[in-house]
Amino acid sequence: MNERILTAPTGSCRILTDARLEDLKALAQGRRVVVVTDANVFAAQGHRLAGFDVIQVGLGESNKTLATVEGLYEAFLERELDRSSLIIGVGGGIVCDITGFAASTYMRGLRFGLVPTTLLAQVDAAIGGKNGVNFHRYKNMVGVIRQPSFVLVDPTTLATLPIREIRCGLAEVVKSAAIADRELFEWLELEGERVEALEPEALARAAAGAVAVKARIVQEDEEETGVRMLLNLGHTLGHALEQTLAPGSVTHGEAVAMGMVAAARLSVRKLGLPAEDAERIQRLLERLGLPTGVGAEQTRTALQSIRQDKKRRGTQIHWILLESIGKGRVSPLELADTEDLLLGEGE
Ligand code: GLY
Repeated sequence: MNERILTAPTGSCRILTDARLEDLKALAQGRRVVVVTDANVFAAQGHRLAGFDVIQVGLGESNKTLATVEGLYEAFLERELDRSSLIIGVGGGIVCDITGFAASTYMRGLRFGLVPTTLLAQVDAAIGGKNGVNFHRYKNMVGVIRQPSFVLVDPTTLATLPIREIRCGLAEVVKSAAIADRELFEWLELEGERVEALEPEALARAAAGAVAVKARIVQEDEEETGVRMLLNLGHTLGHALEQTLAPGSVTHGEAVAMGMVAAARLSVRKLGLPAEDAERIQRLLERLGLPTGVGAEQTRTALQSIRQDKKRRGTQIHWILLESIGKGRVSPLELADTEDLLLGEGE
């Protein structure tokens, strides 16, 4: 097991990588513990949670709601949890977000830990302290920032994940490398297939690399007023594609991969990123089985939706671009200019 501490204004988080679910007992330290999970994770990992009081929330994004959080409050009340209790979320990003939000708000905040069981959650959703739920059609509209006491990353929980889910996490690993860790990027170019093949040693290296990037950035800027924005590389267009393509046709990671390639193309035009580096990003994503091409019509529709994006400041969008591989930069660009460049009509 490896440990790193993320220290931020809302708390300190022990990030334990290459750990095992069985280590939870020691982390509970005699506290009253409630585990929150969902039916899929319980089916795959429930036998490793023997002895814990487990609450299941409904599956999927449609349950990432205040109603689910209210259900958890009821369960906490029934169990007479108090400020010495510990809530542990075991699952993907949705379970981690719901658990973090319920724990952070119940009795003005109980201690909580997270055990992310997807690669995406291990490298992204569980790290950083943002917890929340969707409200109406808006994702993560209601939430708080509060660091978990610990995040336990057990790579063996990934063994039952579909490959498409693994790739979703790999897109975020590539993102972390592209914005802040050239060495990790070069390692992925050499060894990426070993990660996709779920070789434990390679998975642990990839997860630890991405976690280190995110922890470093969050530590510096928990509130996302500056450097933390870099973690949105590929997400401006990515979110818009997720919203505008046929429901279920694209995963978050796939959309981010397409968004990263578009951002790399913009970076060549706007920041002088060498064209060869943009091609390397595209090649790496493709080798990892991720889609990179977006048609003109899809781009146009996605850009329409960006007009309402929360990152918009007046007529400008805060794009995350790359000066080089391993060095991201927040770049405000005029929306119209971006459209011309992405649709191939620019200078
Ligand atoms: N919990 C995800 C984040 O803080 O970015």
